[in-house]
Amino acid sequence: MGYNRRDFLSAVGVSGGAGALFATMGALGLAPSAEAAAKGTFDPPQQSDFSLTGRSAKKVVILGAGIAGLATAYELGKAGYDCTILEALDRVGGRNWTIRGGDRVTELDGSTQVAKFGDGVYLNAGPARLAQWMVTMDYCRELGVDLEVFTNSNAQAYIYHQNMRAPVRWRTAKADVYGYVSELLSRATDAGALDAALTAQDKERLIAFLSSFGAVGDKASGFKYSGGTRRGHSVNPGAGDQPGTVLGPVPSLSEVLASGVGQRFAFEFGYDQAMLMFQPVGGMDAIPRAFAGRIGRQRIRLRAKVTRITDLPDGVEVEYEDRHGRTQKIKADMCVAAMPPHILAKTAHNLGPEVQAALATPTATNAGKIGLEYRRRWWEVDEDIYGGVTATDLDLATIWYPSYGYGSSRGMVVGYYNFGAQADAYAALKPAERERRAIEQGMKIHGAKYRDELASSVSIAWKLQPHIEGAWVGWPSRQGAYQLLGKPAGHVYFAGDWLSYMIAWQAGALESARKVVTELHQRVLSTS
Ligand code: ALA
Repeated sequence: MGYNRRDFLSAVGVSGGAGALFATMGALGLAPSAEAAAKGTFDPPQQSDFSLTGRSAKKVVILGAGIAGLATAYELGKAGYDCTILEALDRVGGRNWTIRGGDRVTELDGSTQVAKFGDGVYLNAGPARLAQWMVTMDYCRELGVDLEVFTNSNAQAYIYHQNMRAPVRWRTAKADVYGYVSELLSRATDAGALDAALTAQDKERLIAFLSSFGAVGDKASGFKYSGGTRRGHSVNPGAGDQPGTVLGPVPSLSEVLASGVGQRFAFEFGYDQAMLMFQPVGGMDAIPRAFAGRIGRQRIRLRAKVTRITDLPDGVEVEYEDRHGRTQKIKADMCVAAMPPHILAKTAHNLGPEVQAALATPTATNAGKIGLEYRRRWWEVDEDIYGGVTATDLDLATIWYPSYGYGSSRGMVVGYYNFGAQADAYAALKPAERERRAIEQGMKIHGAKYRDELASSVSIAWKLQPHIEGAWVGWPSRQGAYQLLGKPAGHVYFAGDWLSYMIAWQAGALESARKVVTELHQRVLSTS
């Protein structure tokens, strides 16, 4: 190759115009498909960008070995940048943290839990689900991280509201809500109540749709919803003369509305929460581990706490405290600060009062999880639930059943995954009290075995995690501070999910890293 891909394409573009350029890109397999366009294009820096221009790769210091910091080092490394990552924790991944037996969870006050989980049982304490459209999937492919389905919505899991006598399966709740809504809308349509909006043919088609959507009766029945197999069975269909017993009785329309179950359904409609969803086999931390392997562990300094960032006329100097408590300094051409904004706001720097005010603008949100290890997979054996989420109006918010290890002996249920005030309420408790409260609440859904068969637990309160101090952040707006930190302050760039429209997703961190890598590389290529 006598010249690099970019030079070649720009030469084609100049001589042949956009049509020729696009055709050439197509021939090279580079033309963006509609899907690629939706993801945004990213052209990773490459070795030839330097070797062919006579420029030399720069030295970059990256603050934080979370997903944004790792992706930054990985992508810059493709072009030969000399990257060093400083990470305050003794592991990579940041909030991407998989807790296994023997791992320690230490909170800000120094109190420590040691996970007692058995072999093969783990808790994804942070991110736990990937949407198919997210760039995270592409990194898993590129890094060789094996994926499996993560069951986010499951017809067999429950909805439980405190105004109910007993939890209801999602399938049953949906049958009743869709059924009654279809009955009402069919009747209104048929009676002419919607004639201003519908033609005769529209009405016919709408009624045909509602018949299928809600499994309601025909016109002669008044489009009546009267339950059916979609609700589930109290005795399953079997062989011979066992047709099964359909679950009943069907609650009244008024009871269904009063239960509020329908307000839960939006969960699985979300662009980021809809099935199918995925998880790495064996734990979410397969992603940061794979990144670290590609970057080279020698480039990552663990237990290195950043204490000062100094932008200089010709580069940047970062001061940090090493694992022995000694102050160290590192000089680089550029810096990518991929730490949480509220932690950066507490770090000394000379980036000016506007940057400081901007870093202090987003507010950190808390989230909590408890991993409950059970000696027996009662949710599978007794309740026929293989993965998925139970939604509640209890302070535990949701209960998750594991999407791995089906049919094995032990297993791990997430006993709560909650945010904000609910997470704060659990964070205020000692781990043993968090467990007691989670069990007491969960027993309302699963009964005494939820307490009696527990083997061990570990809980996390993200606002109490050293060097992280939050689950994610919220911005008052995407103007002002957000815009300012989207640009470098001298030689210091900022990266993280907090600088994306996908806050609290690894994809946000990855997209932010790609943006910074692109901008930093363009600057290096145009100025050095
Ligand atoms: N992305 C986070 C979740 O899926 C907030 O729960």
